[in-house]
Parts: sequence; structure tokens; C-alpha cells
Amino acid sequence: MVTRTQLSRLGLFDAKVPRYTSYPTAPHFSGAVGPEDFRSWIESVPEDGTISLYLHVPFCRRLCWFCACRTQGTATLGPVESYVETLKSELDLLRAHLPRGVKLSRLHWGGGTPTLLTPDLMRALIDKISEVADFAEDAEFSVEIDPNEIDGARLDVLKAGGMNRASIGVQDFDEGIQRTIGRLQGYDVTRRAVEMIRERGVSSLNADILYGLPDQTRARITESVQKLLSLNPDRVALYGYAHVPWMAKRQQMIPSDRLPTPDERLDLFETARRLFAWDGYAEIGIDHFAAPHDGLTVAQKTGRLRRNFQGYTDDTSDVLIGVGASAISKFPQGYAQNAPATSAHTGRIREGSFSTARGHVLTEEDRLRGRMIEMLMCDFRIRSAELVARHGIAADELQRRFAEMNAAFDGLLEVSEEGLFVPQDARPLTRMIARHLDAYELSVAGHSSAI
Ligand SMILES: C[S@@+](CC[C@H](N)C(=O)[O-])C[C@H]1O[C@@H](n2cnc3c(N)ncnc32)[C@H](O)[C@@H]1O
Ligand code: SF4
Repeated sequence: MVTRTQLSRLGLFDAKVPRYTSYPTAPHFSGAVGPEDFRSWIESVPEDGTISLYLHVPFCRRLCWFCACRTQGTATLGPVESYVETLKSELDLLRAHLPRGVKLSRLHWGGGTPTLLTPDLMRALIDKISEVADFAEDAEFSVEIDPNEIDGARLDVLKAGGMNRASIGVQDFDEGIQRTIGRLQGYDVTRRAVEMIRERGVSSLNADILYGLPDQTRARITESVQKLLSLNPDRVALYGYAHVPWMAKRQQMIPSDRLPTPDERLDLFETARRLFAWDGYAEIGIDHFAAPHDGLTVAQKTGRLRRNFQGYTDDTSDVLIGVGASAISKFPQGYAQNAPATSAHTGRIREGSFSTARGHVLTEEDRLRGRMIEMLMCDFRIRSAELVARHGIAADELQRRFAEMNAAFDGLLEVSEEGLFVPQDARPLTRMIARHLDAYELSVAGHSSAI
């Protein structure tokens, strides 16, 4: 049995670590990758292959204080319309370079708030995307939906365009907490959004909630989780609130002295985790829960769970293409990130070039370490056989690395010929264990608490 004292001694309550949605993590990207690399990586996608497409809309009608996403507030439609023009040109460029025959396995619209687009703007983007590639069989089209910023007309367009998964932001149902984090959203607003989504036959519903919010207690998170469960989501992301006011200036509105301590955060996570488990949800990786029929649960059972910039996925495409300002793409060759500011991004696209500003070319060692981290974050298990077969590392070298890791974590891990395994009660340490596998310097700037 792992004790809190042990977790504390191992630094869990002080550490700041990445969430490892990529390896290396984005702060390690450099100017080494530019538009020409991006173009050639797109051209090398096999004609009969599939890609995932991520479309980024970095605008919101109002800016919630707690939000750490890079997004601009806008009260008028002008900047949004102009941005959509840029996206359309970027999609034209993509179409010009992507081999014919490539299919879309996943399409995800995120942000920001993609649902602040008008129905006409949404339709224009859907049409443009259909010119780039057709959906593959079993494709998934998911959209991040702010329940405060949606109506029937917009849902109709999304559904007609093929949306089959909706992802709603909830955060917490407690009104006092909502006031403190600058995001008011009554239970009825959320329930109505869910009803509208389901009435249209959108089969899958995701919801995001947060632990570690100011004034959150065991009783309050229990009530929030129960309210969420009453809406029957297929998938839940339970994220730890990242308080990074030096980066996300609007978080300065949130009183730090009312935030739970790291020890209390662990307790809040455990409380919510047990409630989801009792309700029959499968625990997926470090922070997701999924109903037994959901694709993530199936992928977990069959060893096909993967991790990418959107968190956990059952998508098996090797290529993820990000469209829009700051969007990140992943190829077998490496990562490429678009210019972060909408103005710079628009400027490059209008000149007829992709806006790739940074990235990273993967080395063999990056691939090996990246896969180990992905296995750990997805399955809490690093399987030696796969690494030996696909990454050319010797089994005894792996054993040496695992033994060294286990020693660093007080012998709490299980090491065998099959590989390394993290038992249930040591799982709060997972991101720290992943950090141990990370060969790059830790840049603390954007990272949040390890729990
Ligand atoms: C990019 S937002 C889009 C959601 C949509 N705009 C909405 O508000 O419903 C996606 C999710 O990021 C998460 N998020 C934003 N800021 C966060 C923070 N500071 N710490 C942890 N998660 C955060 C929230 O759970 C949010 O639902
Ligand atoms: S939580 Fe959603 S609506 Fe609020 S600022 Fe962040 S992206 Fe915008």
C-alpha cells in the first residue's frame, strides 16, 4: 500500500510536470522545422492512408477566468469571418499538397469555442474540408461545444456535416465555484445543450470537468459528478485545474488562497475517480473515464489506446494535421506547429505558404522514449517485447533502465521480463514517471502541478 507520506517524499505534491500529449513536449520545439518540411511531410502521406484533422478556432464570446487556453475574446463577428477566410485558404493549400485518396479518420474542431461560428461559416468550413478528403468508414467528427454558446441551428449544420461526437465544457456545477472561476453556466443550460445534441441523434457525448478548483470540497465535487452522471456522458475528462497566472493573466482574478492544497487535490481526484468507477465507467489513462461501449474503453481493452494533443484517442492514424493559428501537426517524421498569433498565421497563409513556425524532427531515441511515455500514460505498462521488436533496443538494456526507474520510485513499480507496470495506488505518480523517461530539460513555464 502506497502511503501519502511516500507520495509526498517522492515529490508528488511539489512537482510541476508536463501532461505529455507529445514527446518531446511543445516547449522543446524549435525553428528547425518550417513550411517546406511541413509541405514535404504532407506530400509523403501514403495515397491509401488516413489522417486526422484538427481545426483550431481561437475565439470565445467571453473569456472565462480559469481558462489557460490561448484564445481571444471577441464581441463582433468581423475577426471570426476573416479568420475563417484564412482557414479556407489554408485548407486549399492542404488540398493542393495532400495525395489524392487519403481519407479522414478523425475530424476535430476545438479552440476556443468553435460553436461561436455562425451556421453559414460552419457550413463553408465543412464544404471546404470535404474538398480536402472524404471521411473514412467509421470516421469520427467531434466538436468542442460551450453549452452557453450553442443553438439548434448550429447543431443542425454540424449534424448534417457528419458530427457524431460532441464535447461539452462543464468544469463544475457549483454556482459559488462558477462565480469564483468566472464561468457561469447553470445546470439547466448544460442539460438543455445535452438534450439538443441527443435530439439530433449525435451518438456520443464527452464532458470536461475539473478538480482542484477554488473552494472545491469532497462534498461539492461529489455533487458535481453526480449531476454530470445524471446526463449520462459517454466519456468524461477529469482535468486537474492548472493555475498558471503568470502565463494566463486572467487567472489573476482567481484568489490563489482559496485553491485546494496538492494533498486536497489528490483527495478530490480520488473522490471523483471512485464515483465514476462505481457508476461503471472504465478508467482511461490518467484523467479520462469512458462508458463500457465507448471507443476508448474498447481501445483500452484491445491495446489500441493512443495519446495525442487532444488527450486520449482510439484513432490509429500516424498523421494528425492541425489547421489554424498555433495548431500542431504530427507526422512519422516529426512535429510542426503553426504561427501562434492569428495575425502572423493569416499573413503567411495569404502569401500562399503554410505558416509552420516551429517543430521538431524526431530522432530514433525520441521515438523510443516517446513510445515508452505513451504506453505508460495509456496503459500504465511499458511492454518490452514491442520496444525490442520495433525500436531495436536490447532487452537487457531495457531491464537496466526499468530497474533504475524503479529504484528512483522507491520500488513502487513492478519490473519483470514483460516490462514495467505501475500498480493502481502508485498511479498518481504516472506523469512523474514519464518525466523520468524524458531526456529533455524540464521547462517549468507552462506546466502544472503533478497531481
Ligand atoms: C479549450 S476548452 C474548450 C471548451 C469550450 N470552449 C467550453 O468552454 O466549453 C477545453 C477544455 O480545457 C480545459 N481547461 C481550460 N483551462 C484549463 C485549466 N486552467 N486547467 C485545466 N483545464 C483547463 C477545460 O476543461 C475546457 O473544457
Ligand atoms: S473555457 Fe472555453 S469559453 Fe471559456 S475561455 Fe476557455 S475556451 Fe473560451
